[in-house]
Amino acid sequence: MNQSSPPQRILVTGGAGFLGSHLCDRLLASGHDVLCVDNFYTSTRRNITHLLEHPNFELIRHDVTFPLYVEIDRIYNLACPASPIHYQRDPVQTTKTSVHGAINMLGLAKRTGARILQASTSEVYGDPELHPQPESYWGNVNPIGIRSCYDEGKRCAETLFFDYRRQHNLSIKVARIFNTYGPRMLPNDGRVVSNFINQALRGDSITIYGDGSQTRSFCYVDDLVEGLLRLMESDEEITGPINLGNPNEFSIKELAEKVVNLIDNGSNIVYEPLPQDDPTQRPPDIGQARKVLGWEPKIPLDEGLPITIDFFKGLM
Ligand SMILES: NC(=O)c1ccc[n+]([C@@H]2O[C@H](COP(=O)([O-])OP(=O)(O)OC[C@H]3O[C@@H](n4cnc5c(N)ncnc54)[C@H](O)[C@@H]3O)[C@@H](O)[C@H]2O)c1
Repeated sequence: MNQSSPPQRILVTGGAGFLGSHLCDRLLASGHDVLCVDNFYTSTRRNITHLLEHPNFELIRHDVTFPLYVEIDRIYNLACPASPIHYQRDPVQTTKTSVHGAINMLGLAKRTGARILQASTSEVYGDPELHPQPESYWGNVNPIGIRSCYDEGKRCAETLFFDYRRQHNLSIKVARIFNTYGPRMLPNDGRVVSNFINQALRGDSITIYGDGSQTRSFCYVDDLVEGLLRLMESDEEITGPINLGNPNEFSIKELAEKVVNLIDNGSNIVYEPLPQDDPTQRPPDIGQARKVLGWEPKIPLDEGLPITIDFFKGLM
């Protein structure tokens, strides 16, 4: 396991982001040298200010669509805007970040002999006709819609990873990440957990689209990071793709009620029409992760939600 492995030089692209900054924390705590590469497109330096003085931490402001020449043992490729508001702001740049970013990081892995992990997404399944989605499901993705820059960009990145494996024998790992939440999410990125918490903290009404019976599953960030670390240090022949997420489902209404109870700021819940492409459910099938990595989420929503609320309170 990573925790007990000898110190490595580890590159985290998107290392100043929500997931990336928690990953940097964990890697440094395990004694590794961490090189964080980020262009701060969707993150703030606040996420990593506590690391800037750490002797094993280095920050490079760099856009992964351009090549990078560093000496490295491991690459976690997380750089990419992740919420619809952000990835639709400049869709061409989103595709470039996924595709050119993957090519550049795979090229770096090839040159240095580094092992490389791709942060892929459940969105590669598109609007699935199968629930829950096993990794063997090829998905149902619109190639020309407004979400395609993200979905198809991530799919192409997966293709590149497996072609670099077949063609150049690279050591690759692909994680398909499902909805994750926790401290250091951005308050206004449109994701449901941060939306509800910030509406409640302001004392505003909490907006539910539809009747709130649609379900979602939420993985706490520490669990997700543990899954990424295990996948990276898994045996060479384990490439993934592997789903990582929390299979426990909650209705959106339940989530809203939990937030209202925890914040108790007089917010009421209001209902608005459901957008057309809103899926009714999205639970991960984590059978592979359980079997191959011995991994499953440990932190329930009732534990992760108060920590996340405290973080957003601190921001206010
Ligand atoms: N959080 C989730 O629920 C979730 C779910 C599925 C997949 N993922 C994937 O995990 C990764 C991290 O997601 P996150 O939630 O931490 O998002 P995030 O937006 O907080 O982090 C992404 C980071 O990448 C950086 N970045 C964007 N474009 C870049 C570029 N061209 N060059 C260098 N840096 C760039 C951003 O500034 C940011 O720091 C993403 O690849 C995302 O697609 C996340």
